[in-house]
Amino acid sequence: MRKKYSWRQRRRLSDPIEEHVAFSDTETKIAIAGHPLHAMMVAFPIALAFSVFGADAMYWFTGDDFWPRVALWGSGVAFGMGVLAGVTGTVELLMAPGIRIRSASWTHFILAVMLLSVLGLNWGFRLDDPVGAVLPWGAMISALAAGMTGITGWHGGKLVFDYHIGAQRRDKGGHA
Ligand code: HEM
Repeated sequence: MRKKYSWRQRRRLSDPIEEHVAFSDTETKIAIAGHPLHAMMVAFPIALAFSVFGADAMYWFTGDDFWPRVALWGSGVAFGMGVLAGVTGTVELLMAPGIRIRSASWTHFILAVMLLSVLGLNWGFRLDDPVGAVLPWGAMISALAAGMTGITGWHGGKLVFDYHIGAQRRDKGGHA
């Protein structure tokens, strides 16, 4: 419900977004027992993006063909799970008015879509020749993917911890 401000307060508080009726409606729309699906799924692309970089580094040090096969599978699953996580995040973004109205949510969306394209590139680049693809370009793409994953994940955390986006409201049985 829109807050009531006196005429004097209105002259000081002029942010139309904060006064918008939807501003506080940030609760998750797709969750299991109040835990957002998006938060559950992002763990996979995050862990795998860093692991693929690790596998490339291991190949560089050891020359063992096992590691490029690990990187091929890891990058494919990172991309697939990243896309699925992106779908759940996009549903939240479009369906929850208090998420949609915040510019920080759209910043996260743009970062995430750029990340997904790099995760897809990291996989597609290895498909024909997983071993030959690693040095130097595969390793450089996975370094970029790991860096972008760090930035996107950190920003997603800010949405939750700073703005309580996706968190359940206490008056509805949650802890936020
Ligand atoms: C492609 C579109 C994406 C959209 C629209 C999106 C949107 C969101 C939203 C709305 C939240 C707040 C929590 C929630 O409501 O579930 C969030 C949290 C988060 N997102 Fe995304 N996201 C996207 C992709 C990604 C990807 C690819 C990553 C992987 C790095 C990611 C990492 C995170 C993290 C780590 C959180 C914090 C989760 C928590 O600590 O609870 N997001 N995202």
